[in-house]
Amino acid sequence: MANTIYVLNGPNLNLLGLREPEIYGSDTLDDIAGRLEDRAKELDLEIDLRQSNHEGHLVDWLHEAQARGAKAVLLNAGAFTHTSIALYDAIRAIKTPVLEVHLSNPHTREEFRHHSYVGMAAKGTIAGFGALSYMLALEAAALL
Ligand code: DQA
Repeated sequence: MANTIYVLNGPNLNLLGLREPEIYGSDTLDDIAGRLEDRAKELDLEIDLRQSNHEGHLVDWLHEAQARGAKAVLLNAGAFTHTSIALYDAIRAIKTPVLEVHLSNPHTREEFRHHSYVGMAAKGTIAGFGALSYMLALEAAALL
């Protein structure tokens, strides 16, 4: 598991590709998963990508990432980014490095997206590059 990168995705990201493509692009989560897996192979890493619309699943998976000795977590918590003290606490509770990922740049959008509980606890943030944000986060995780 030391070579595994968890890629955790929160609410509405199952609709990627259909959902507001002018903001989030036309790639689906499966497209992104495929590209991450290809690059991970080159880096001698494995990807475990999951998506849930339920906050508690993300908390459980963060705990699991540490329990299983994952190398890092890439976390796009969707709207829970801006609301979830439970995710803030979970990230702080584990030693596994967590990288916050966003397709869009929340700071250029509505004011309610400017605050990130995830970002307050994460090791770093990559946002605003569309699907490429995930690839950049993988490169960073590989170097940790
Ligand atoms: C998002 C940004 C969030 O503000 C939003 O709620 C999402 C997607 C992104 O990847 O750009 O669901 O996390």
